[in-house]
Amino acid sequence: MERPPREQIDRRQLLTAASALGVAPWLLSACAAPSGATRASASVSGQAGAAGSTIRRRLGPLQVFPIGLGVQWHPGRGPQGVNDLYASSTDRSAAIALLRRAVDLGVTLFDTAEVYGPFMSEEILGEALQGVRNRVTVSTKFGFDVDPRTGERRGAQNSRPEHIRQVVDGQLRRLRTDRIDLLYQHRVDPQVPIEDVAGTLKDLAVQGKVLHYGLSEPGLQTVRRAHAVHPVAVIQNEYSMLWRGPEAQVLPLCEELGIGFVPWSPLGMGFLAGTVSARTRFGEGDFRATVPRFAPDALPANMALVRLVQAWARRKNATPAQLALAWLTARKPWIVPIPGTTNLAHLEENVAAASISFSAAELTELDASLAAIPIRGERLSPPVLAATGVEAPPKR
Ligand SMILES: NC(=O)c1ccc[n+]([C@@H]2O[C@H](COP(=O)([O-])OP(=O)(O)OC[C@H]3O[C@@H](n4cnc5c(N)ncnc54)[C@H](OP(=O)(O)O)[C@@H]3O)[C@@H](O)[C@H]2O)c1
Repeated sequence: MERPPREQIDRRQLLTAASALGVAPWLLSACAAPSGATRASASVSGQAGAAGSTIRRRLGPLQVFPIGLGVQWHPGRGPQGVNDLYASSTDRSAAIALLRRAVDLGVTLFDTAEVYGPFMSEEILGEALQGVRNRVTVSTKFGFDVDPRTGERRGAQNSRPEHIRQVVDGQLRRLRTDRIDLLYQHRVDPQVPIEDVAGTLKDLAVQGKVLHYGLSEPGLQTVRRAHAVHPVAVIQNEYSMLWRGPEAQVLPLCEELGIGFVPWSPLGMGFLAGTVSARTRFGEGDFRATVPRFAPDALPANMALVRLVQAWARRKNATPAQLALAWLTARKPWIVPIPGTTNLAHLEENVAAASISFSAAELTELDASLAAIPIRGERLSPPVLAATGVEAPPKR
């Protein structure tokens, strides 16, 4: 197992001390960077990005390259097959090569979850990061009731403290590391007080197993309650030009509490990249087949957004995917999107979005055009939507 370099050991001691004191580790950190996007000497340019870019931005207590990478893969055809949630597939060795290329391009934030596979995405990421582990920020998630031995889904959520501890030990093994940089609760467990979850993550921080934690699609009061027990580092919610819900309350809350924000499905599940037409029908096994905004009665109206993205992409000499990612990173200096891809050319294209910026006038104009396009259809199917924005039960 790869050991962290000296400065990371010092950082771990700092985190452990901060955790024991019950304060935000980044408040103690003497070497904290100024808030906002920071640009070091290298820059990313051109369609393919620049190898080993050192651009960084602040994500709560972390500092990462402004574009991350989502690793949400499931078993595909044959023993080596790898599928995404949509229509793309690859194989294990190509997936590992893609992850290593991402590291070479300068990507530092990798996002996965126990339930992606289950286990498979963490295993592939762990294998790919051998030898480069200390250059990246590994984020993963717990929270669904997955049998730790078989990977079988036994029920909905499970954030009971003893289960979290068991999951983390499995994750450390699969990721071939001795610490998880950022561990999210995937969905709030309606049976477990968030104080118990945050307390468990605080214990894991003291042990050095989990350096920071986050919440995905939490209720607002749950964030405040968790933060009072042990500082929340990052919130991960769906956010893109296709779904702007977090702007009303979640982003202001992040700003107030100093929490970083990671938008999931930043490309609108491929829609904003221009891979869908009004006539597209999604096959069985493609998650988008369950999503109301992609249904045949909604798609034709929603294509107005794709046309807007395409027009702005031409104007900015970018691709639609790059335009959609750059719009997100322009919203706040502490937002880091995690586009998912199985495709090397798409990876390189997405990484290069880090070099695109907007003037204030451009953003105002683009936002006005976006606001004039109503999106038809819910962002998720009713049962999946019901698990978002949940408030944890009170601690008695
Ligand atoms: N916290 C949560 O509950 C939650 C939920 C969903 C997702 N996530 C995380 O968010 C990550 C990203 O979300 P996502 O994969 O659902 O959606 P996404 O990133 O919005 O879109 C992914 C889709 O876009 C395509 N794509 C990517 N780059 C492209 C490009 N440059 N040009 C054209 N097509 C492109 C991909 O296909 P190709 O493979 O062909 O490129 C794939 O079909 C996931 O990997 C996961 O880590 C978290």
